[in-house]
Amino acid sequence: MKSASLPVFPWDTLADATAAARAHPDGIVDLSVGTPVDDVAPVIRDALAAASSAPGYPTTHGTPALREAAVSALRRRYGITHLAPGSVLPAIGTKELIAWLPTVLGLGAGDTVVVPELAYPTYEVGALLAGAAVARADSLTQLGPSVPALVYVNSPSNPTGRVLGVDHLRKVVGWARDRGVLVASDECYLGLGWDVAPVSVLHPDVCDGDHTGLLAVHSLSKTSSLAGYRAGFVAGDPAVVAELLAVRKHAGMMVPTPIQAAMVAALDDDAHEREQRERYARRRDALLPALLAAGFTVDHSEAGLYLWATRGEPCRDTVTWLAQKGILVAPGEFYGPRGARHVRVALTATDERIAAAVARLADSAR
Ligand SMILES: Cc1ncc(COP(=O)(O)O)c(C=O)c1O
Repeated sequence: MKSASLPVFPWDTLADATAAARAHPDGIVDLSVGTPVDDVAPVIRDALAAASSAPGYPTTHGTPALREAAVSALRRRYGITHLAPGSVLPAIGTKELIAWLPTVLGLGAGDTVVVPELAYPTYEVGALLAGAAVARADSLTQLGPSVPALVYVNSPSNPTGRVLGVDHLRKVVGWARDRGVLVASDECYLGLGWDVAPVSVLHPDVCDGDHTGLLAVHSLSKTSSLAGYRAGFVAGDPAVVAELLAVRKHAGMMVPTPIQAAMVAALDDDAHEREQRERYARRRDALLPALLAAGFTVDHSEAGLYLWATRGEPCRDTVTWLAQKGILVAPGEFYGPRGARHVRVALTATDERIAAAVARLADSAR
């Protein structure tokens, strides 16, 4: 695979807007990427430090403590039942997991991977790395009689913040089961519901406690501010997880032992996760009205880490308009052609930087 066969790395195209935003006398407010900025909770850092003497190889399947912590966090936080610890597989970040999932599943030429119309770019990259075809679709009717190998859903969505309800997810699960299609549900933002409560594909209301043909992908990057640790896991269909494990035992990508210990601490502690969620809620409460007062329309955004905003013009014009105020955002076209008139505004900046953005937007509204 040559990099030329992959899409242009989208953030490389933001150089001019970044330079313009950096030139602001009070500095840039970078809301273009969803990279967490808040300190890692002491309970997690202590666990990392305590596990720092790790001379031996970690196991690919992770420690029993990690798998049990994942099962019990999924039950406590999201009401997921019927999950056995053996059906959890740790990953060095879910970006890496998603980029290689079609390859590790053995997909290739002749297979199709379905991704949402507006989607996190790595779903497409993973399909291309495997040599599979990509179809963009939000509804099953768009697919007609074709039978893909893998369907991604992402609720709450990056970039739109849209949440798929129980009925929608049940339809996807039923449709996929009837055809033997694997569903991968990227649940990176599941803990960040604002106006509605997002639900996991593994929740009994969605799958009746039967995980056949279902994978849920969980990242600790956003809910525990651990993006720098590279920590996530996949859980679901016992047979599919066993197959992923069997390939990964050969291919590696083992999660380092100290990171596994830090993940246990993060999954066992809900207090820091709640605090983080409250921080994002406050930032959203500040930024959302500021965007509306400055003339934006904000669509979806009922959950997740982003505001999906439009001024009714091409997204690059909005990126330029905001960059002149020192605010950098991501053009919606990064996520699919249907994003051409939106920008994605991340809530991942310090309170001080969010306040600066709000003040600049208020100036422009005057
Ligand atoms: C929808 C979605 N999935 C997965 C990821 C990857 O997260 P990580 O690789 O940090 O686990 C991101 C990161 O922004 C994301 O937005």
